[in-house]
Amino acid sequence: MKLLQVVPAIHEYADIAAFAADFRLGRHDLILTNARYGKYLAGLDCPVICREKYGTAEPTDDMVNAILRERDCIHAETGVERIIAIGGGAIMDMAKVLSVAPHGTRDCNELYRNMGSLARVHELIALPTTCGTGSEVTNISVIFRAPLGTKHGLVGDALYPAHAVLIPQLMETLPYHVFACSAIDALIHAVESYLSPLATPMTDVFGEAAMREILTGFAAIAEDPSCRSALNGQFLRAATNAGVAFGNAGCGPVHALSFAIGGKYHVPHGESCYQYFLPVLRYYKVNSEGGGKLTKLEALLCDILHADDGLNALADLLERILPRKPMSAYGATQADVEAFAVSTIGNQQRLLARAYVPVTLDVARAIEQECL
Ligand SMILES: NC(=O)c1ccc[n+]([C@@H]2O[C@H](COP(=O)([O-])OP(=O)(O)OC[C@H]3O[C@@H](n4cnc5c(N)ncnc54)[C@H](O)[C@@H]3O)[C@@H](O)[C@H]2O)c1
Ligand SMILES: [Fe+2]
Repeated sequence: MKLLQVVPAIHEYADIAAFAADFRLGRHDLILTNARYGKYLAGLDCPVICREKYGTAEPTDDMVNAILRERDCIHAETGVERIIAIGGGAIMDMAKVLSVAPHGTRDCNELYRNMGSLARVHELIALPTTCGTGSEVTNISVIFRAPLGTKHGLVGDALYPAHAVLIPQLMETLPYHVFACSAIDALIHAVESYLSPLATPMTDVFGEAAMREILTGFAAIAEDPSCRSALNGQFLRAATNAGVAFGNAGCGPVHALSFAIGGKYHVPHGESCYQYFLPVLRYYKVNSEGGGKLTKLEALLCDILHADDGLNALADLLERILPRKPMSAYGATQADVEAFAVSTIGNQQRLLARAYVPVTLDVARAIEQECL
C-alpha cells in the first residue's frame, strides 16, 4: 500500500528576487502570469506571457490554444526550457497543459485522447498566488473544454510541477473575498481527504497540519482582520499541505456537489464548495455510528478551536470569515434542486465513491433543498 507520494520539491522564499537568483532565471525560462505581477518581474531577462491578453475568465481550451501559439513563437526565437507559472489555480492549470503539449500542438483537446502517454516537454515551476487549489503539488489540470461543454481534468504524472515555490509576498494583492474562498477550498481539501477511504496515516499528517494552519489563521483574522498579511506564509503552506493530502487521498461529495452550481451560475470554486461543506458534514454526523474518522475529526476541531462541539464551532468561525449565502442568492431556483442532484449523481461518481457515508440521489436532493 502506497502511503504517500510527493513529487515536486517544495521551496519558500521571501520574494521573487531571491527565487529568481536561486533558480538562475534567464531567457530560456518562459513566465506565464497576470500583468499585476509585472512589478516583481522587472529586471528579469525572461519572456513573459500575460494571460489577460487571452481573457480573464476561468481557463478554456481556446485560451490555452492561443497561449500555445505564443509559446511556440517564443520557442522559435529563443528556445524555452522551463515554464514558470505565477498565479492562482487558473494559471497553474494552464501552465500544466503547456508543459506537456509538444511544440506545434494546435489544439490542446488532442492531449486528452492520449492521456495515458503524456510526456513532459518543459520542466514546470509553480508559484501559487492564492491559498487554495494546491495545484502546485498535484498532477491534474482543470480547464473548460468546448467539445464537452464542461470543465474537465487532464491527469498524468507528467503534469506534476518539478518545483512548488511558496512566496508570501505574492499574496499581498489578493482581495479578501478571493483569499477567503481559496482558503476555505484548501480547508475542504484537507477535511474531505481526511475522511476519504483512501486516507493513510501519512496523508492525515498533511491534512491535520493544513486544518490547524487554516483554522488558527481564520480565528486570528476573525479577531483582527489586519493580521492577515502576516499570515500569508502560513496560509500558503496550508494550501500546499492540503494539496499533498488530497492529491493522494482525493476529495469527496462536497466537491462532487459543487460542480453543478459552479458550472451553471459561475460561482467561484471555493465558494461553491463552501455551500455544501457543513450540510455534508452534518449529514455524515447524523448518519454514522461514531467512533470512526468523523469522531477523530470532531476531536481535532475541538482541540484547534477550543470548543466542546467541533462542527458548530467550525460553522461559527467560517460564518465570521465568509457569511454563507443561500444558493438562491446566486440565481438558483427550485427546479435546480432536482437538476443539480441528478447531475451530481450522474456525473460525479468518482468523487462520490470517497463519501464517508454514501450520498444517494435522495440525499443529494435533500442537501440541495437545504442549501437553496
Ligand atoms: N489543479 C487542481 O488540482 C485544482 C484544484 C482545485 C481547483 N482548480 C482550478 O483552479 C481554479 C481556481 O483557482 P484559484 O481559486 O486559485 O483562483 P483563480 O486562479 O481563478 O484566481 C481567482 C481570481 O483572483 C485573481 N488573483 C489570483 N491571485 C491573486 C493575487 N495574489 N492578487 C490579486 N488577485 C489575484 C485572479 O486573477 C482571478 O481573477 C479553477 O479554474 C479551478 O477549476 C484546480
Ligand atoms: Fe477544491
